[in-house]
Amino acid sequence: MSVNDNSQSNHISVKIKSPTQVLDFSVRNGIAFQGLCAKHKTPIEFSCREGDCGICCIRVIRGAENLSEPTKIEKDFLQAMRADPDERLACQTRILGPVEIEADYL
Ligand code: FES
Repeated sequence: MSVNDNSQSNHISVKIKSPTQVLDFSVRNGIAFQGLCAKHKTPIEFSCREGDCGICCIRVIRGAENLSEPTKIEKDFLQAMRADPDERLACQTRILGPVEIEADYL
């Protein structure tokens, strides 16, 4: 499925995979995952939205360099959880270029 925010340029491609679907979005450069997920139904779940609970953890398949740098809160949380290097907290992350991620909550 492909979903477009609008027809403006300066949009980037975001692919979100889950065990049951693959979603393609064209979104404004710099949008936060929280913003994308507020506009569109995705498999990414949020709870605290402050980097405290980890429910929004995603795995980056491609384009890790196109995500915002981890905040101190995110770094501290992921380190405490012994997260893999390709895991990020969606609630703390902005999308700065094409990216492909996996959200697996099943
Ligand atoms: S929603 Fe709780 S850490 Fe992201």
